[in-house]
Amino acid sequence: MGLTCVVLAAGQGKRMNSSAPKVIHGLCGKPMLLHVIEAIDKLRPGKKVIVVGKHHNEIKRAVAMPGISYVMQEEPKGTGDALLKAARAIGKTGDTLLVLNGDMPLITADTLKRFLAFHIRGRHSLSVLSFIAEDPSAYGRIIRDDSGKALRITEDKDASALQKAIKEVNSGVYAINPECLDLLARLKINRKKEEYYLTDLLDIASRDSLSTGIYCAGADNKELMGINDRHELLKAHEVMRRRIIDGLISKGVSFINPSSVNIHQGVRIGRDTIIYPNVSVEGETRIGTGCTIYPNVRIKDSSIKDNAIIKDSSVIENSVVRRGAQVGPFAHIRPGSVIGAGVKIGNFVEVKKSSIGDRTKAAHLSYIGDSVVGKDVNIGAGAITCNYDGREKHKTVIEDSVFIGSDSQLVAPVRIGRGAYVGAGSTITRDVPSMSLATSRTKQQNIEGWALKRVRSLESKAKSRRGK
Ligand code: UD1
Ligand code: CA
Repeated sequence: MGLTCVVLAAGQGKRMNSSAPKVIHGLCGKPMLLHVIEAIDKLRPGKKVIVVGKHHNEIKRAVAMPGISYVMQEEPKGTGDALLKAARAIGKTGDTLLVLNGDMPLITADTLKRFLAFHIRGRHSLSVLSFIAEDPSAYGRIIRDDSGKALRITEDKDASALQKAIKEVNSGVYAINPECLDLLARLKINRKKEEYYLTDLLDIASRDSLSTGIYCAGADNKELMGINDRHELLKAHEVMRRRIIDGLISKGVSFINPSSVNIHQGVRIGRDTIIYPNVSVEGETRIGTGCTIYPNVRIKDSSIKDNAIIKDSSVIENSVVRRGAQVGPFAHIRPGSVIGAGVKIGNFVEVKKSSIGDRTKAAHLSYIGDSVVGKDVNIGAGAITCNYDGREKHKTVIEDSVFIGSDSQLVAPVRIGRGAYVGAGSTITRDVPSMSLATSRTKQQNIEGWALKRVRSLESKAKSRRGK
């Protein structure tokens, strides 16, 4: 029997108190719905279907994954109605349907595999994945008879005091065989919420004497947590954040204070790299082996090669930092930059859309934008490229072994030839030939005795005022 996965994501998520739909709220760098989809993707289902509502455009944009079909549920008339819409759109395929709520981002493929194996082994028509919750109040309870057979699921709002004490709850994951899907048409509306509950399917199926099974994943299984509000989102984020960091620690990464570090899912970090407090590593970032990332650094969508050192309070976005380079403190490497091997980018240096050749140094207070900088270049303190004329950006080329004196301005487009020197304080508006010296500052003149004369003149003025 084939497998089709259906994710229910058309609910409004009112408890989130947000203008965005609940399932696109993110944790560890990805919308929660995408975490769910990545888990089901590992099961290699024949089809992946997401039920979406009025926020379908935002959801499609946030997920942006090929091979997914979307089914519309115009009005959020409950999880039962959502699955009915999906079942009708999918048609009769003979597949087992694995149905999941879109608000359970911690779910893993391993648990889903075990659940499906249970469903198949037991030859059930309908299986439900349950767990034991410390606080079951946000979940539907699994109601069993004296023999332990599960009869139905009762939502908290509809539960008696006795039922509320039950700790075994519905996780919102179901395996449903084709013969059971026909029963969806028999769901009755819940008058308290004016919704069709998918959970009522268990009651209908067991009354029809179809084989049903409950697979309990154990006590307080955080993986099955449903996210309804921002408190729960924060809790889930913390679980996932810790899961990611523990995985990296096992692979040889050191953390000084892991509770303050944020690392997105999918980030890769090599062994013997040390991560200091308050570091955030985001998006598609790769960090090599033996690197040191000092406090308050944010790295996004970048590649940091082996033995690089990123010093305190630096930001690196969409860039490459090659082997053994040093960046920071307080440096900003903006998108499209390549920092060569052994380069030193020091404090208050901003690099934008520029490549910096190996071993080059820009140690203090520079702006390097839209530039190609060669190897072994020395860029003095406060030297900047003037890449913008108010309308367009222009390119600066600094060839190998150039020396740019402090506080120089290179007005682009401009090229400084190999081995040339630019004198400190120069404004360079024309190309500088290789192996030459360019200066553009006014000549210094010293007026001997000027200060002495000034002091004397001030003194004589003061004397004449006192004499009056
Ligand atoms: C649901 C279950 C509950 C279970 C809990 C697990 C029902 C009636 N209750 O409750 O037994 O313990 O999940 O976390 O199913 N959705 C739609 N269309 C709708 C309504 C909801 O697609 O009309 C989607 C939502 O986007 C969400 C999922 O279904 O992803 C679950 O909806 P939600 O409102 O969060 O259900 P719970 O009240 O948590
Ligand atoms: Ca929920």
